[in-house]
Amino acid sequence: MTLPITSIGLLDADQVKSVLGAAVLAPSTHNTQPWRFRCGPAGLELHADPDRALPVADADQRELLLSCGAALFNLRTAIQALGAHPATTLFPRRDDPTLLALVRPFGARRPDPRAVELADAIPRRHTNRTPFEAGVIPPSVVAELRHAAEVEQAWLPRLDAKQLEGLRELVHKAHHVQLGNPAFLAEWQYWTARTPDTRDGVPEYAAGAMPSNNGGWVLRDFGARPRGRTDHSEPLVVVIGSFDDGPADRVRAGQAMQRVLLTATAAGLDASFISQPVEVPAIRAELRQLLGGGLWPQIVLRLGRGAPVPWTPRRSLDDVLLATA
Ligand SMILES: Cc1cc2nc3c(=O)[nH]c(=O)nc-3n(C[C@H](O)[C@H](O)[C@H](O)COP(=O)(O)O)c2cc1C
Repeated sequence: MTLPITSIGLLDADQVKSVLGAAVLAPSTHNTQPWRFRCGPAGLELHADPDRALPVADADQRELLLSCGAALFNLRTAIQALGAHPATTLFPRRDDPTLLALVRPFGARRPDPRAVELADAIPRRHTNRTPFEAGVIPPSVVAELRHAAEVEQAWLPRLDAKQLEGLRELVHKAHHVQLGNPAFLAEWQYWTARTPDTRDGVPEYAAGAMPSNNGGWVLRDFGARPRGRTDHSEPLVVVIGSFDDGPADRVRAGQAMQRVLLTATAAGLDASFISQPVEVPAIRAELRQLLGGGLWPQIVLRLGRGAPVPWTPRRSLDDVLLATA
């Protein structure tokens, strides 16, 4: 069934379709795409889709909220790039915890050039798991990434050499905990061994050739591809943390993650995720201590410059639209 996409406030139906199209390009754990949208008279609603949760890798649905937060950031940015203000309320109805946000496009104004730049980066951002070139990311770009996290009420701390070494060890430890868990592997297998016509999950071609060294950072191996050239590059590894760890903090952290990722894309950088240490609760607690005990670590990213990678598929808008209530 095809659901009608209606005009909302300032936006005509085609513009609503284009901002929803931008929203669904957000990253999501194992490409589960755990979101749904409703075009209502009050605005655009973003709903979590608990049927697309990952009970093993993401038992408390923290990453599900991060993924939806990323979709929300894309939606807000695409609306801003059209010259409207996306007035956003998180969890607008107390009796409905799966309604994550209501976004009402208001007031015509000149599109914000920064929003246009970030909106242009939405379709160019892809998780890039290939080896990254050696080379230092300029401090001005790192400062931009830090600022991007702060604008969305999160934090990207400076990590000293000792903390980086500690993080590398936690990644190793968490990676092995996950590989030793048959339930994790079964869930992983379900979302990665997809048929070619499936429009969710991580296809093998998205893996690219894995880095052989990667500065000692262990990545999840999404394909049985041979290792890439021996690389001795040291990617920039960053942690994004939040100041609290409730559902709204997690949705905010997802928006911060996506602003950081799009800022990186706009600056010509590639990124991939190193989520093992934030997915194993005991190791996430260790990482929190490693960061000083104040921040809640939400996401670990690896940044640098890699080889071009193909698109990972998305479901169609018809698959993610809810009928108007
Ligand atoms: C919260 C979160 C955690 C993720 N963790 C990992 C990870 O640990 N390893 C990895 O290779 N990709 C990870 N991903 C990337 C997803 O697999 C990717 O976003 C998805 O396959 C869609 O592909 P795209 O990002 O290229 O659009 C993560 C994504 C999100 C949003």
